[in-house]
Amino acid sequence: MKFFIDTASLQQIKEAQDLGILDGVTTNPSLMAKEGISGTDRVMKHYVDICNIVDGDVSAEVISTDYEGMVREGDNLAALHPNITVKLPMTRNGVKAIKHFSDKGIKTNCTLVFSAGQALLAAKAGATYVSPFIGRLDDISTDGVQLIEQIRVIYDNYGFDTQILAASIRHPMHIVQCAEVGADVATCPLSAINALFDHPLTTIGLEKFLADHKKAAQQEATAK
Ligand code: E4P
Repeated sequence: MKFFIDTASLQQIKEAQDLGILDGVTTNPSLMAKEGISGTDRVMKHYVDICNIVDGDVSAEVISTDYEGMVREGDNLAALHPNITVKLPMTRNGVKAIKHFSDKGIKTNCTLVFSAGQALLAAKAGATYVSPFIGRLDDISTDGVQLIEQIRVIYDNYGFDTQILAASIRHPMHIVQCAEVGADVATCPLSAINALFDHPLTTIGLEKFLADHKKAAQQEATAK
């Protein structure tokens, strides 16, 4: 399973990249706004900055809602860097634009997916990635991971190439559960990735190994 980081923070992207396990980045207009990035020129430059940090797909979301605007914006985004993936919402125009970009060989990510039927439409249109938002489903008492499982079955039934990109991940268990049910990618906040590293028995075990090593070294020095 690929690991993407779900942020527009260059600092967090660098931190995740330094861990050596990062495969890509997803952003959305809310994440860009959180970093104070606005205006076409600044937004475009920011995407290029992200692409220069990570050697992997970087999802850049359109803000147009009409088909022509989505195509125009998507073309501009795709021209920025070969790793740019045009992120389009699950709407009629979004699906139509996904088909357009897919026919042109431009990578796409269908975002705001909350049902298996929507995921089926995204795959039919040739999306590179489909983004089911599992955390937001959990937030309304619906099992988000179960949706990933359902989409996995459907895509495998028909051999769709669209990769399931589990989004709206809230905690490390989401990542593990997505891996169990066969998500192709998990896009995660840095906090969830970092939490995967930690286990109290690892900490205690390492402390004991190092203490034993130090004791043995001291005993050897005393014996000389
Ligand atoms: C990623 O592509 C999505 O935009 C993101 O995961 C949404 O996450 P949220 O539900 O935490 O806002």
